[in-house]
Amino acid sequence: MEPTFRSLHPLFVAEVEGADLRQTNAQALLDRIRAGMDRYAVLVIRDQPLTDAEQLAFAQRLDGALHTKTGISALQKNRFGNEALTDISNVSEQGELMQAEDRRRAYSLANRLWHTDASFQDPPGRYSLLHARVVPPVAADTEFADMRSAYDELPGGIKARIEGLQVHHSIAYSRQTLGFEFSDDEKEKLKGAVQPLVRTLPRTGRKSLYLASHAHRVLGWPVPDGRLLLRDLSEHATQPRYVYRHTWRVSDLVIWDNRCTMHRATPFEDLTYRRELRRVTTLDIEPTPALAGGG
Ligand code: OGA
Ligand code: MN
Repeated sequence: MEPTFRSLHPLFVAEVEGADLRQTNAQALLDRIRAGMDRYAVLVIRDQPLTDAEQLAFAQRLDGALHTKTGISALQKNRFGNEALTDISNVSEQGELMQAEDRRRAYSLANRLWHTDASFQDPPGRYSLLHARVVPPVAADTEFADMRSAYDELPGGIKARIEGLQVHHSIAYSRQTLGFEFSDDEKEKLKGAVQPLVRTLPRTGRKSLYLASHAHRVLGWPVPDGRLLLRDLSEHATQPRYVYRHTWRVSDLVIWDNRCTMHRATPFEDLTYRRELRRVTTLDIEPTPALAGGG
């Protein structure tokens, strides 16, 4: 069956209907999803009862190599024994709800800041695929913001001023804004990366702002000037008209393009209710020729 796209927001985001992502030999389906990502930047695919292995395999079929250097990997070993599968949950190694003072909880709370995945690494993340396994009985949504539309609607003078700027992204910076402290060893592993502030998406030619809570220094600018510019751009880019809010159901898979969206978790009673999702992120490197074709 041909998957169809149903728009969920005036600017971006669609729901894909009629797709079974476990089908392993479905080139046409992969091409449709890649084309859908180019157009919508966020795709919601419901009722996908994926195992860990199926989620990992689908991400690789869709977009190639996987990210394994997530921020949390500098802090502790992965609960699933595979650094490509990021544990987005409020559950400890032992499977219990994390306590208020748990260090990993403090670390995860920073997902409530607007960000893009792995922008503090080189290469950064391209697509993230987040799959819902356990969803609380209260709203525990994720918000997404469209950085292409936010770029398009900047005044021309600002576009000219920011063209070509390079920005340092550091997860130590974004966590420190919430009072989270890293050891020297962890800091050594998380030195950060330099990224362009304006990106051009290769397949569509559209331009996009590349922002994140990790972005903290504009190269060649005095620190406060850079911080203020990044703050103003983030405020602009996360106005309600650019934002979509996803309410999770078990077995939802949401795919977003980190090059042209930001996202954040929204607060819920995380000390009371379990919430378990798993994320796989692909590397933003040149696609292999087999993946680049079609579309
Ligand atoms: C992520 C993330 C937000 C959420 O998985 O990268 O930021 O709502 N998740 O869990
Ligand atoms: Mn994230």
